[in-house]
Amino acid sequence: MKGIILAGGHGTRLYPMTQAVSKQLLPIYDKPMVYYPLSMLLLAGIRDVLIISTPNDTPMYERLLGDGSRLGVSIFYKVQDTPRGLADAFILGVDFIGEDSVCLILGDNIFYGQNMTGVLKDAINNLDGATVFGYPVKNPKEFGVVEFDENHNVISIEEKPEKPKSNYVVPGLYFYNNQVVEIAKRVKPSARGEIEITSVNNAYLDMGKLKVSLLGRGTAWLDTGTPQGMLKAAEYVEAVQSRQGYYVSCIEEIAWRRGFISTEQLLKLGKELQTTDYGKYIISLAEEAMSQ
Ligand code: G1P
Repeated sequence: MKGIILAGGHGTRLYPMTQAVSKQLLPIYDKPMVYYPLSMLLLAGIRDVLIISTPNDTPMYERLLGDGSRLGVSIFYKVQDTPRGLADAFILGVDFIGEDSVCLILGDNIFYGQNMTGVLKDAINNLDGATVFGYPVKNPKEFGVVEFDENHNVISIEEKPEKPKSNYVVPGLYFYNNQVVEIAKRVKPSARGEIEITSVNNAYLDMGKLKVSLLGRGTAWLDTGTPQGMLKAAEYVEAVQSRQGYYVSCIEEIAWRRGFISTEQLLKLGKELQTTDYGKYIISLAEEAMSQ
């Protein structure tokens, strides 16, 4: 399975913060936003990652993450000249995807929860067409909304409907088989001029191949779409980290726990960041493992 992080767009809803810097490079507490979705792909065991961003911002992602070898993975980059919609990820990523199945995660989506690894593994192991998720929110109008019948079967997914038919929406984490490339090519632009991921999901639904897994209340899906959302997400991460002592989305830790890098490599990465609590945390993980 391949992984794609979509980190394009102009981030206009966060101006002036995003006038010079890509939204997904802005910090959520102590790390760049893109670390959070990247950590999900690593947790899922995905070692081939494509980051799609704008012509201006792509070099900055390359500076931040390089070719991925430091984390024991391969990271590739693709420039998106203009934001054409989320489904464009599969058209731009066609060579990268090759014959594989693919997980798309949006660069501004943050997930955290007890059983996230299990949720990801389950989606990958049982993939038959497409798997997306349903998550209850108070403001469904702003997302792709899942409509259920009385037996909880999915009837449709509507993109940003005026009158949402449920409060379950689809977060920016999607698993598809290889057919997604062909489906994306056929998608017609919506009223807002974008090739919508919702159209892709509805194409799978029409084929009887869309699975919507509901994420339980033990999972946090944090909003980063507004300054207030960003602040709240940062507060959440800070609270978990300072209370439990475990770091949220520490990509070095996850790469190490997944066996992508050795303890020696982990220690080296930590030492490069040793002026920060983030770096000290990584060093402490490595030293603890070495002392056992
Ligand atoms: C996009 C999708 C929407 C999904 C949301 C999740 O919305 O179109 O279906 O629920 O991501 O973050 P956008 O970010 O384009 O407003």
